[in-house]
Amino acid sequence: MNHPNEIKLIIDDIPVEVPEGTSVLEAALSVDITIPHFCWHPALGKAGACRVCAVKVLEGSPRGVQMSCMLPAQDGMVVSTTDPEAVALRKGVIEWLMINHPHDCPVCDEGGECQLQDFTIAGGHGLRRYDGRKRTYTNQYLGEYIEHEMNRCIQCYRCARFYQEYAGATDFGVMGRGNMIYFGRQGDGPLESPFSGNLVDICPTGVFTDKTARFRARYWDYDLAPSVCPHCSLGCNITPAARYRELLKVIARRNDSVNGWFICDRGRFSNGAVNAPERPRQALADNRPVSCDEAMDALLERLTEFLELNGPASLAIVGSPRMSLEGNIMAARLRELLGAGTLSYFDDRLQAERTMEAASLLTTANAASLADVRKADLVAIMECDLLAEAPMMALAVRQAWRGGARVYVVGCDVPFDSAQGTKTLAERSRSPASPTHPGPDSVPPDRPDAPRTRPGAGCPPPLPAPGGARGWSGSRPGVCSRTRSHPATPRPVRGSATPRGQRCPHC
Ligand code: SF4
Ligand code: SF4
Ligand code: FES
Repeated sequence: MNHPNEIKLIIDDIPVEVPEGTSVLEAALSVDITIPHFCWHPALGKAGACRVCAVKVLEGSPRGVQMSCMLPAQDGMVVSTTDPEAVALRKGVIEWLMINHPHDCPVCDEGGECQLQDFTIAGGHGLRRYDGRKRTYTNQYLGEYIEHEMNRCIQCYRCARFYQEYAGATDFGVMGRGNMIYFGRQGDGPLESPFSGNLVDICPTGVFTDKTARFRARYWDYDLAPSVCPHCSLGCNITPAARYRELLKVIARRNDSVNGWFICDRGRFSNGAVNAPERPRQALADNRPVSCDEAMDALLERLTEFLELNGPASLAIVGSPRMSLEGNIMAARLRELLGAGTLSYFDDRLQAERTMEAASLLTTANAASLADVRKADLVAIMECDLLAEAPMMALAVRQAWRGGARVYVVGCDVPFDSAQGTKTLAERSRSPASPTHPGPDSVPPDRPDAPRTRPGAGCPPPLPAPGGARGWSGSRPGVCSRTRSHPATPRPVRGSATPRGQRCPHC
């Protein structure tokens, strides 16, 4: 029997059963039928912005070519993704999206992992018919970790929806209108959200790329393996990408029970220590290269001698709540093997007692996953600066707050500003959730005046107010400074004072 909330429909002759409220696009994906899509994202939902997910409804209402992400699946619906009318519309939309695209796949760092590239090729758009002048933008300096290449944008709005709605930061968004919209900041400057690295993953094309790994490898060159982030206790799922035994970048790995689709910037960009040349790469015993097993045997031998000489109370084995689970278990195992020594994980006895007490109250019935937190209707944060200690937990609490949950903070002098999301953190000079290692064009600490690799880096001046005292300074005749200075404004044609006769999109 059909579950009362289950919908039965047919997509490309395949019977599909989905819960009520599922879109036709999601229903198709649930049976591995791929419909091209750019603006829809499982974590962000639909926007109806890209118009590339067309299908044809053969039976059911409304009939004809429809956008599958915006269309709820209905009982008895018959849908075709291969109908010539739907295919032609998708092909036309892709061609239109590609009109202003630079077609720079061979030199684009996103090549090989670009959704736009995949759907363009899959849709059969191979030859560019448009020979007019392309729209061009000025890129921005967005900080040490993320490169901006705005000409590749296809206006799917994923970045702005993630950054502002999902992550709650306000320093990045969409500006302009019509054919001249721009996704960026009011001026050059580092992105403030501690989750900004997700722009790299979420943008379906190469507008945001990971600067730390830029031009180091193509996607198919990487050694990839599923892993777990070691930078806090949450255990977000990640995919480290290495080449020639060098860790080049970290990509978020979807796990709906833990981090969902995203990770924080600390988890993404803090891999500098892994590649640090000072890092020991070979076990040594008496300055002699040995295998790890031999080194462990030598360690046990020395420690046993030490304990025999000095007594069992002379040895402390120190772990840490910030150490990996595996490291802490190894410390406990070492103590077990020695049969002596004090094992310590905490700064002081009080912290140890309170943590142990809290842990003893946890059961499988009352322990909440990050997924549970995202759906909670009440959250109490006790003596904890979430953004500093477990950034993705703060993002999960924000999702609960967006869903109507009440959030209480007890005994912490850093408020969780749910209305502003991560702004509390952004207001601090250096976020504790920030990466622990500087990006490739950071300012060297010993040379604060050294030029950054990108001119114009640093704090941006605010955008001049239109019509204000500064609003008209330095403008071309009849153009305010906002238009003149804004990166979305087309560069003037040589010899012309106006930007190619276009109408200003800024007000
Ligand atoms: S920058 Fe990327 S994510 Fe943002 S609208 Fe453009 S294509 Fe979409
Ligand atoms: S919250 Fe950030 S640091 Fe903690 S496990 Fe997740 S990605 Fe890593
Ligand atoms: S995915 Fe449906 S309109 Fe963009």
